[in-house]
Amino acid sequence: MYIKDLSGFEGQEVTLKGWVANRRDSKGLVFINLRDGSGVCQCIADATKISENDFECAGKLGLESAVEITGTVVKDERQIGGYEVHVSKLHIYQYAEEYPIAKKEHGIEFLMDKRHLWLRSQRQWAILRIRNTIIYSIHQFFQKEGFVQMDAPVFTGNACEGTTNLFETDFYGDPAYLSQSGQLYGEAMAMAFGKIYTFGPTFRAEKSKTRRHLSEFWMIEPEMAFFDIHQNMDLIEAFLQYVIKEVLDKCQNELQLIDRNTDILKTSLKPFPRLTYDEAVAIIKGEKDVNGVNSIKSLEEELAKVEAAITATTAEIADREAKIAVPGMKKGEINFNQNKIATLKNELKELEEQQRNIPTWIASAKNFEYGNDLGGSDETVITRLFDVPIMVYDWPHEVKAFYLKRNPDNPRFARGVDVLAPEGYGEIVGGGERETDEMKLREKITEHELPMEAFEWYLDLRKYGSVPHAGFGLGLERLVTWLCQLKHVRESIPFPRMYGRLLP
Ligand code: 4AD
Ligand code: MG
Repeated sequence: MYIKDLSGFEGQEVTLKGWVANRRDSKGLVFINLRDGSGVCQCIADATKISENDFECAGKLGLESAVEITGTVVKDERQIGGYEVHVSKLHIYQYAEEYPIAKKEHGIEFLMDKRHLWLRSQRQWAILRIRNTIIYSIHQFFQKEGFVQMDAPVFTGNACEGTTNLFETDFYGDPAYLSQSGQLYGEAMAMAFGKIYTFGPTFRAEKSKTRRHLSEFWMIEPEMAFFDIHQNMDLIEAFLQYVIKEVLDKCQNELQLIDRNTDILKTSLKPFPRLTYDEAVAIIKGEKDVNGVNSIKSLEEELAKVEAAITATTAEIADREAKIAVPGMKKGEINFNQNKIATLKNELKELEEQQRNIPTWIASAKNFEYGNDLGGSDETVITRLFDVPIMVYDWPHEVKAFYLKRNPDNPRFARGVDVLAPEGYGEIVGGGERETDEMKLREKITEHELPMEAFEWYLDLRKYGSVPHAGFGLGLERLVTWLCQLKHVRESIPFPRMYGRLLP
């Protein structure tokens, strides 16, 4: 019996098994918030209705103690989930030791160190359930569309996405790299099955701390024979919209728990603007407005707002600190104020981060050099101006991967496409149409100083029935981060692996 199913059992006696998410005592009553993985429900132990021993046990339950509770299901609109349980019997699996994650605000590093426990908190629970819905809907979409799921190897003998961020391992005495992308194998499989997708872990040694980069992340890479870049973009849009719609349909409760503003997710069901690299650069540099909004001017306005908020928040902190310093304040009120101060200080930290970031965004936008790849700040600058994902295609070939086809009408450009999520999130998908000509690929492999012999098998695909084909890679954690409106990618995966973080 799970908490999520309580509605079908009104008036009946049920047995729930779970953990104590909160306990509150009042005269003759113990209120237990029970968490069982499926939901949370308030259970009330009444001294006049259960054995003396059970009541005593209930009063000793600390946070995260494990219990079995039997009781009657009673409707109560005011409760989370709409039901509560009136306890008749209690069985204790374990009285937990003092739980390290208290109700008060903790620093992020502390919470990351306690990630194995932090996962139990309501917010993390909601995020990871949304992740689960995303994964499920990804499989649903591709399976419905007739794609075959195929797994690419993790040990690889060649680099797919450049050599700067490879994790090298020892493969029986020879170097091998942890896969950066399953794409090259996906291309081989597409020539055997027509339309395939991979869904697996990929690895990039990113030796810096950013809010977008993990060392280990999950990538979904479809690859389609006989697709060009435009069909690829059509597919990306249909795919992302399917997933967004499923999340909106299935995760209302979770989205509400994490306080996600869903308006932008709903707008994202309209067509995604498709911009060439040239158009994107003009927008970033402030030479072209988006719906009357200028990139640079709007950032300058934002900076002024942030500075005003910093002044107001600093004043409120000082005010509350002064109040609690005066003797005579009740303990409860002091606690309340201290918690509020901790929250305000966290908010202040974020505001100060923005105060540091915005000028660098403005500078990088103003100084953007045509021909360069978009950096994280450039992506932030352009996507703040949109309320739907945008697709940027036709990139200067020098900044993109070796395997991309050139635009036949304008060979300066490679037919790559990046999808940038709105609200400043930036790249969530990278993909494109593939070069089909063996000799052109050999030239590119040489130009990128990649070892030709490791790519001979890949070049075979251009000798035996070479056809136009395209595909893309979606970074799962980037999508979860955007859909959940997280500040950092580390909360989008159960156990993040990133620079400086291997435990837990
Ligand atoms: O743009 P990328 O490097 O493209 C590829 O790997 C292609 N081979 C995909 C293809 O065409 N089949 O990576 C694809 C996506 C990015 O858009 C981003 O969402 C995610 O993978 N990604 C990362 N996510 C988290 N941490 C990192 N370090 C990431 N690097 C890329
Ligand atoms: Mg990319």
